Amino acid sequence: MTSFNFNVVVFISLMVAAMAFYVSPQPTIYVVGDDDGWNIPGYPTFYDKWASIHDLYVGDSLQFNFKDDEHDVAETDEQTYDECNTDEADPDITKGGGIINLTTEGVHHFISTIKDDCQSHLKLAVYVNPSSSA
Ligand SMILES: *[C@@H]1O[C@H](CO)[C@@H](O)[C@H](O)[C@H]1NC(C)=O
Repeated sequence: MTSFNFNVVVFISLMVAAMAFYVSPQPTIYVVGDDDGWNIPGYPTFYDKWASIHDLYVGDSLQFNFKDDEHDVAETDEQTYDECNTDEADPDITKGGGIINLTTEGVHHFISTIKDDCQSHLKLAVYVNPSSSA
């Protein structure tokens, strides 16, 4: 009886360990803003907070959910992000649900170029860690 229980515990532990090992290195698609999506945030630091609680790695992707034509997404340099200089920004995503693959390590900056979205804090700066499988 005791050894039967022991074997069951060992078997379950190995299953759990194998699943964790299998699942963790897979690239992940993160929905920016989670349920709030990519919209004018309720408070200015909303996307900073989102970035601070997500660990992103090269190979992961970001999905931006918004109503078509209301917002867009442009990856920009730091200065354009800071100054909301939308003249310098070409949108990479113009349709809600669009995905950007994070292929390089370092800080990535995204803004919406529509109207005063960026001044209204619809902007995201995220640090992307080196690939977890490297
Ligand atoms: C992002 O990665 C996915 C899956 O690898 C691929 O299908 C898609 O074409 C990539 N998108 C871009 C914009 O490179």
